[in-house]
Amino acid sequence: MLQNILLLLALGAISGFAASADDWKGRSIYQLLTDRFANTNDSSASCNTEDRRYCGGSWQGVINHLDYIQGMGFDAVWISPIVKNLEGNGTYGEAYHGYWAQDINALNSHFGTEDDLKALSSALHARGMFLMVDVVVNHFGALGDNNTVNYADFSPFSTADDFHPPCLIDYTNQSSIEQCWIGDSNSDLPDLNTESQAVVDTMNTWIGQLVHNYSVDGLRVDTVKHVRQDFWPNFAEAAGVFTLGEVLSDNLTYTAAYTGLINAVLDYPTWFPLTAAFTSTNGSLSALKNAAAATQSNYKGGASTAGLFLENQDQPRFQSITKDQSLVQNAMAWPFVFDGIPILYYGQEQGYDGNGDPNNREALWFTAYQTQKPLVSHVTSLNAARKAAISSNKNFLTTAATFIDQQNSATLAISKPPLLALLTNSGNASTSTSWQIPASAKLFSQGEKLVNVLTCTAVTPSSDGSLAVQAQNGLPQIILPASALDKNGNLCKDLATGSSNAATSSVGFGSWVVLGGTLVLLYLQSLL
Ligand SMILES: *[C@@H]1O[C@H](CO)[C@@H](O)[C@H](O)[C@H]1NC(C)=O
Ligand SMILES: *[C@@H]1O[C@H](CO)[C@@H](O)[C@H](O)[C@H]1NC(C)=O
Ligand SMILES: *[C@@H]1O[C@H](CO)[C@@H](O)[C@H](O)[C@H]1NC(C)=O
Ligand SMILES: *[C@@H]1O[C@H](CO)[C@@H](O)[C@H](O)[C@H]1NC(C)=O
Ligand SMILES: *[C@@H]1O[C@H](CO)[C@@H](O)[C@H](O)[C@H]1NC(C)=O
Ligand SMILES: *[C@@H]1O[C@H](CO)[C@@H](O)[C@H](O)[C@H]1NC(C)=O
Ligand SMILES: *[C@@H]1O[C@H](CO)[C@@H](O)[C@H](O)[C@H]1NC(C)=O
Ligand SMILES: *[C@@H]1O[C@H](CO)[C@@H](O)[C@H](O)[C@H]1NC(C)=O
Repeated sequence: MLQNILLLLALGAISGFAASADDWKGRSIYQLLTDRFANTNDSSASCNTEDRRYCGGSWQGVINHLDYIQGMGFDAVWISPIVKNLEGNGTYGEAYHGYWAQDINALNSHFGTEDDLKALSSALHARGMFLMVDVVVNHFGALGDNNTVNYADFSPFSTADDFHPPCLIDYTNQSSIEQCWIGDSNSDLPDLNTESQAVVDTMNTWIGQLVHNYSVDGLRVDTVKHVRQDFWPNFAEAAGVFTLGEVLSDNLTYTAAYTGLINAVLDYPTWFPLTAAFTSTNGSLSALKNAAAATQSNYKGGASTAGLFLENQDQPRFQSITKDQSLVQNAMAWPFVFDGIPILYYGQEQGYDGNGDPNNREALWFTAYQTQKPLVSHVTSLNAARKAAISSNKNFLTTAATFIDQQNSATLAISKPPLLALLTNSGNASTSTSWQIPASAKLFSQGEKLVNVLTCTAVTPSSDGSLAVQAQNGLPQIILPASALDKNGNLCKDLATGSSNAATSSVGFGSWVVLGGTLVLLYLQSLL
């Protein structure tokens, strides 16, 4: 009996643990471009983003710097596409970003070998971290215009019939968005014929194998709105792991429609008002609040698995818009304090400020991965605050955040118990910004000890349970009860009064499966 159970467990470990949306909810994702994050030998290789050429980053480079990523509190890494891309320097440079597939069953050798990618996957799992891989269904690669495409170069699709005929997208026509080619007349990307059942079957088989071959825990899916909607449910099922799709639109209704087809979407409908809100002291926080509240009611199952971000490889870095560090710190806090899975794009923590593509794809090795940096500290505190909230309230992740009305339109107070986030876009020159939390909000008990975990400062509510907080130079505050902080932990431990239950709750189910599977395998080996 015991042996049968152990055998089943061992088989489970061999066939792999498939992480679901639920398994991802409490995670925090570090997004990186493999070519730009770290090269194998940490050399000081030159990397001029304007050249759009390979700079030498690799999967082994990522392995070498997992301490840096995990040290900030991230427990998942999203890597750029892994498949073999077209080789050569085209109209828009080389395929260093990975979005120009040539052969989806082979790997991009610039980043390493199959063994290197498997080693990255194992190294992450050994730390209890998840691997998210970026995949593209919509298109293959191109180095020039449609006349330069040679279908025979591609694999496993190698005829014109496997692709839609070339046409440039009319963005007012959804069929055109799905069937025409993204790009421009100098370089447009061959659009896979996902109306063909043979193509669909091949893609579904492919994604299941890719997930299995590299023990992938989740997928970031590119250009989802460019493929017909009814393609996605079967693809997501074939993947068997969490699928987070890119639907680039500020239209909530349009984007939300995809949350019933794949697990979740990158939260672009909130990203637009988020950046606008903190771009200057004139931004509208009420527009952000309304957009965010709408995601809670329109995303299928709520916003708890949406991917929240401030930056990514397609958009100008936030510091190319404003250098005011108070606005930056407020904007950075958002993905960590609202419903959803926070995602941080590599380099943001080092203060990189490239404007759009290709300048927002800087090589990180120029920073020497320094950790004594204000925004590295900031993001470390944000991750730690969220983890403390998760540990102290088992319903944290499923409790929808609410806004506590403020008189001052330059402030937001977001309650997601036990976490209270106080944000403002009053800017670094402001001296008079404050937040008011009425006793009627019933967030605190009388005399409860509170801590602003971004500065490790005690915060004291009035005897009636109301709270008035004065901002310092327009900086955000994240308030947690001292009892939610671990006396032996690393977040404001001098003020903490709680004891850790983190040992059981911060190590995800996946780690236990990996650990359990390993022990069982050792046990079975001892029997043989
Ligand atoms: C890294 O350095 C080692 C030893 O110096 C060398 O053998 C290897 O080729 C280098 N790898 C890369 C990708 O440059
Ligand atoms: C790469 O291609 C671009 C555009 O065709 C061209 O301007 C650039 O000089 C090329 N670079 C090299 C090193 O060939
Ligand atoms: C195909 O490429 C030509 C340039 O060779 C360009 O003028 C035309 O707009 C492209 N057509 C489509 C549909 O992309
Ligand atoms: C919309 O795009 C599709 C696909 O290209 C095309 O067949 C159709 O004629 C377009 N409809 C309109 C109204 O332009
Ligand atoms: C997965 O591995 C199998 C067996 O080696 C191989 O046939 C298949 O092409 C691989 N698929 C991917 C996407 O790596
Ligand atoms: C938003 O998307 C919905 C659903 O596609 C559409 O009906 C609506 O017209 C769009 N709104 C705007 C302002 O474009
Ligand atoms: C805010 O708006 C005022 C007028 O509308 C403008 O003069 C000022 O430059 C704006 N400030 C910022 C930081 O954008
Ligand atoms: C405030 O931010 C501006 C940039 O927007 C910067 O020039 C200034 O030095 C900052 N002031 C302080 C006190 O940080």
